[in-house]
Amino acid sequence: MCGIVGIVSNKSVSASIIGALKKLEYRGYDSAGISTISNNRINEQKCSGRVDNLEKILFQNPSDGDLGIGHVRWATHGIPNQINAHPHSSEVVSVVHNGIIENSDKLRDEYIKKGYSFKSQTDTEVITVILTDFLKSEDLINCIHKTLEKLEGSFALGVIFKDYKNLVVGARRGSPLAVGYGHNENFIGSDSYALKSMTNKISYLDDGDFCLLYREKVEFYNSEKKKINKEILELSNEDNIAEKGDYKDFMSKEIDEQSFTTKKCINEYLDKSRNEINIYNLPIDPKKINKIRLIACGTAYHSCLMAKYWIEENTSIDVEADIASEFRYRNVKLNKDDLYIFVSQSGETADTYAALEKCKKNNVKTCGIVNVVESSIARLADFVLPIHAGPEIGVASTKAFLGQMLVLYLLILKISKERSEIDQENYKKLILDLIKLPDFIKQTLSKQKDIQVVARDFVNAKGTMYLGRGYSYPIAMEGALKLKELSYIHAEGYAAGEMKHGPLALIEDGMPVIVLAPKDRYFEKTISNMQEVIARGGKVIMITDDTSTTMSENIRFKFQIPKTNSTLNPFLLCIPLQFLAYHVALLKNCDIDKPRNLAKSVTVE
Ligand code: AGP
Repeated sequence: MCGIVGIVSNKSVSASIIGALKKLEYRGYDSAGISTISNNRINEQKCSGRVDNLEKILFQNPSDGDLGIGHVRWATHGIPNQINAHPHSSEVVSVVHNGIIENSDKLRDEYIKKGYSFKSQTDTEVITVILTDFLKSEDLINCIHKTLEKLEGSFALGVIFKDYKNLVVGARRGSPLAVGYGHNENFIGSDSYALKSMTNKISYLDDGDFCLLYREKVEFYNSEKKKINKEILELSNEDNIAEKGDYKDFMSKEIDEQSFTTKKCINEYLDKSRNEINIYNLPIDPKKINKIRLIACGTAYHSCLMAKYWIEENTSIDVEADIASEFRYRNVKLNKDDLYIFVSQSGETADTYAALEKCKKNNVKTCGIVNVVESSIARLADFVLPIHAGPEIGVASTKAFLGQMLVLYLLILKISKERSEIDQENYKKLILDLIKLPDFIKQTLSKQKDIQVVARDFVNAKGTMYLGRGYSYPIAMEGALKLKELSYIHAEGYAAGEMKHGPLALIEDGMPVIVLAPKDRYFEKTISNMQEVIARGGKVIMITDDTSTTMSENIRFKFQIPKTNSTLNPFLLCIPLQFLAYHVALLKNCDIDKPRNLAKSVTVE
């Protein structure tokens, strides 16, 4: 939820820290701060709001120094103001933190009794105080190690010490931390994207690790203070391309990229010469899979809901889709003949990671479907399937959602074929239909203006509903989430057949209602549900591939998607919903790439 960066260099670091913080703002943007060491003191400067505010302060009052740390915050403990902004410093140490220290109240009491005082409401400040205390009696390594041992919960830390002017310390437990290698300078950052403008040589700390960054070397230690080595990865330039270019915001770029990213992902997994899906070496023999459990959060969870329908349609395997924050605490029966699939764009979502850890501890077989291949989930899962969507910066997920659905669809077809539950002819036909999908996506993307016209209907709406049956139901859920998180308008996704069991009471005259009604086997029933809404004054925006439906006077608008294989409708249905949420948010002057209260990677519970 927060972003941290640290640099030790042979030149001034404040500009590089600010640049890295700007790349980290998608992780949190309530407040920002920086600490450097110069003139034998810690210079801490911080403020509420965006990194731009911090930059203005530094312009007036520059932070010198060739080593420092920086932070962008998504508040967990304490309101987003200047006092609670990171870094948190004493005379001798300064700390930035991403995560939650769950025993911070107990530790705060313990150190108040020792005579220490606290300035902020944050959990993080206890780390500063404990380090300050241990510095009085321990050498640096023991000071760090003993401090970390007192902490319960999750953290990625960046620390600088007034009396150690040649190093920056990093530490990780449960929140991601990358190390970047430069020439006479080294870096830590919450992810490689933050460091991309300074290096493409990256290592990753694992839980329990800490590191000492010097200008000429990096030392890694494990949780037993034992020196260890870390693999150095060289990121391809492609991994690092994430600029807006001519687009107004990242979200419009990422929506527009979907035909390209879908085509790229298909090319990664499909051998067109043999009409074969190149997914092999699953951690469990597909023929022996008894059940598939899909676990994720938010939009990624909606891709799991979608996969449930495809698995039921194409295999005899039992399947469940679970919200990770529920799965991780329920007394779930884990079985060695089940496959546990974890879907996560960032690969760092705390709840999803914890659910994966639970499965790993029980020795069941796990698969991670991620967009960030060097992420924590990717490194913990038994088997990883990247979605190849490229960096997704907009907090509201768009191209990653399509990528998640696509990889799940490919995996399901492959498993079905390996189990001989789909015949070769049908398998080949579905693959040929899939090859055409990017073009259908492109056609749908070209109709942005068609949906833009109805965005105004939502601006002052008290609320709205998204209805769908079968394959359209998970997309109704996803469309509602898009509108909520971008425009702050209350929106609910419902199974259309569920309306008469209560939600129909919400329909008021003139209320906009989205109905997803492709011409599939649910079409007639969905039209009946749509009529129930119209009869009560609802203004229906219908999204369909059906050309025959006459436009009744109460269907406010009909958005036409191209006709394709009905199992692929979800990929097309979600595009007008992305556009709708985007344009309503624009009309409401909401921040498109950084909606209020949210963050791109939810690395705390
Ligand atoms: C997506 O629009 C949301 N911002 C959010 O629900 C997101 O999908 C969820 O936090 C899971 O993130 P992940 O895919 O990185 O695990």
